[in-house]
Amino acid sequence: MTVPVFPVFPVLTAGTTAQDQEVCGIPMTTITPAVDLSEAQFTSVAQLLHERAGIALRPGKEQLVKARLSRRMRELGIRSVEAYLDYLERDKTGHEMAAMIDVLTTNKTSFFREQEHFEFLKDRVLPSLRRRDGIRAWSAGCSSGEEPFSVAMLLREELSDIDRWDARVLATDISSTVLEKARAGVYDTRAVEGVPDALRRKYFARVRTDEGAEYRISESVRGMVRFARLNLMGSWPMRGAFDVILCRNVMIYFDRPTRETLVRRYWELLRPEGHLLVGHSESLNGLDHPFSYVQPAVYVK
Ligand SMILES: C[S@@+](CC[C@H](N)C(=O)[O-])C[C@H]1O[C@@H](n2cnc3c(N)ncnc32)[C@H](O)[C@@H]1O
Repeated sequence: MTVPVFPVFPVLTAGTTAQDQEVCGIPMTTITPAVDLSEAQFTSVAQLLHERAGIALRPGKEQLVKARLSRRMRELGIRSVEAYLDYLERDKTGHEMAAMIDVLTTNKTSFFREQEHFEFLKDRVLPSLRRRDGIRAWSAGCSSGEEPFSVAMLLREELSDIDRWDARVLATDISSTVLEKARAGVYDTRAVEGVPDALRRKYFARVRTDEGAEYRISESVRGMVRFARLNLMGSWPMRGAFDVILCRNVMIYFDRPTRETLVRRYWELLRPEGHLLVGHSESLNGLDHPFSYVQPAVYVK
């Protein structure tokens, strides 16, 4: 049998993207191209990612970087990492740097992820805010919106007079791709699996599609959340004071000095007695910080 030989990187024709193209009937996206990534190139990418996004790529992540960079290179029709790094350096607009950071970030998230935090917000945070009928929460590293929308749904569920409250959720991320998805507020069936049935019926509109169905978040929830692109390593335009900051499953990608600086910046933006929530696989142990420990993954100013 003759094995068909096909180019790993077909040259893009005008008006098409690599995603549109097929090779022997197989969509390009399903073919893993064999790009070579030398140790020095991995180090350059790791340095750039650390400088620009605070993300520390540990040794052993070479395959992951290779696979993710290949995706971006395929979109551009670039065949070698060397040519890609050259392209990156020549692009003075910052667009390609943002695109590279975008593909290298890990965006895993889900609705009501780490349920203990939502119990904590319901039982411990909301009652204390009754005095002023207001809450400002910040989902720092919000990915595709499941986290801030979960907070907004919780607020709507727990506060019968929510429309009288000044309730605002700021949701930020460095990745434009996930923010675009968050702003659209449309999720597939798998993504809404973790949403309790009653909430799914109340806060999502089911829309039939060729593939099955998708779920559109309601205006009442969407209207409470404001999305913005923000690099946590850069300057922050907002001026506190937050009641709660959720920075969950974000700092795991940062090294210790970066985490320490970030945690101190969160302190500055929190109200007295405001809470910082981190992921349950994270903790502030070993960091020099001014917070008091409340329970696993919860800290108070
Ligand atoms: C694993 S997701 C966590 C999402 C959500 N917080 C959760 O726990 O489900 C981490 C998110 O942090 C974002 N991120 C990583 N570095 C960042 C930075 N320097 N500034 C802002 N966001 C960043 C990534 O783009 C990604 O969407």
